[in-house]
Amino acid sequence: MEGKKVIFSGIQPSGDLTLGNYLGAIKNWVRLQEQYDCYFCVVDLHAITVRQEPKDLRRRTLELLSIYIASGIDPEKNTMFIQSHVPQHSEAAWLLNCNTYMGELSRMTQFKDKSAKSGNSIAAGLLNYPVLMAADILLYQADLVPVGRDQKQHLELTRDLGERFNNLYSPTFKIPEAYIPKAGAKIMDLQEPTKKMSKSSENANGFILIMDPPNVIRKKISRAVTDTIGVVKYSDEQPGIKNLINILSAIKSISPEQIEEQYDGIGYAKFKSDVADAIVEELEPIQSKVKQLVSDKKYLAEVYKQGAEKAKYVANKTLRKMKKKIGFIPEN
Ligand code: TYM
Repeated sequence: MEGKKVIFSGIQPSGDLTLGNYLGAIKNWVRLQEQYDCYFCVVDLHAITVRQEPKDLRRRTLELLSIYIASGIDPEKNTMFIQSHVPQHSEAAWLLNCNTYMGELSRMTQFKDKSAKSGNSIAAGLLNYPVLMAADILLYQADLVPVGRDQKQHLELTRDLGERFNNLYSPTFKIPEAYIPKAGAKIMDLQEPTKKMSKSSENANGFILIMDPPNVIRKKISRAVTDTIGVVKYSDEQPGIKNLINILSAIKSISPEQIEEQYDGIGYAKFKSDVADAIVEELEPIQSKVKQLVSDKKYLAEVYKQGAEKAKYVANKTLRKMKKKIGFIPEN
């Protein structure tokens, strides 16, 4: 691992994962794992910024870890862990919080969206959420953070907070770069293709879940909103078709231009059925592995325990430096 650049990324176990999470994040992690020293976290502390049913949170946390492994992330080569097992994240978040401005947090798009849905009871954790995310990343001295486009703003804040600390005290953190994929950066809702595909969407036909059975995937793609133009073209005037091209492009690693050429003169029905086939082909093997893994609690525990041990060691090195620079008396 020595000398390799570091990657950190995470997903919240706050709902069932969508094809957007898979193509925007996980699929790229699998690609990047050979060249980098990777930390992939199940960010359960982030998930509780909105109310979670305890038993669902437990189930989803282990399912998410299983999805990481089933998608091809090798537990022998990468550090996979559960965020709440590494208390350094919460502690570093507090230290960073004290150098974060209310103004910068209340400007975050995700906070504005989510707090608008919370009525009068907006959890303070929802506002502070990006500071915890900054702590996640900065603790591991990450070089690169592979995420979907919706996380770009949080990454910019992470950089600002890291630079602020470095300037206030002395160089402490590596300033990370976002890695945002070309094709899968923002998978859109199948029913409202101008909106991001999200597990919280009201219309289940708008999203595909990683664990959706093949017949459901085929049905959702065949119902996906398109247009009356009738040409498979990568254009902003055809957001539904553009989204399906992006999905195919991200799965097959072929460019939108190649897809346009391939479907020149071919109708939407055939195109959609090919997109559905590609998704099913990609997800089916993952689904069957997930089903095996979730019942192997002992194996999952081995993976997350080993991951937490390594993560704690690395995170603690950075945390100790932070505390010393701030002026806290070392315990020993
Ligand atoms: P979360 O859990 O909402 O999403 C996990 C990852 O999936 C990406 N994503 C998408 N990509 C493409 N199209 C979509 N429709 C789509 N929807 C979601 C997200 O960009 C993300 O990469 N704050 C983060 C979790 C987090 C984190 C971190 C990420 C906490 N700490 C440190 C990186 C590094 C979040 O809420 O992601």
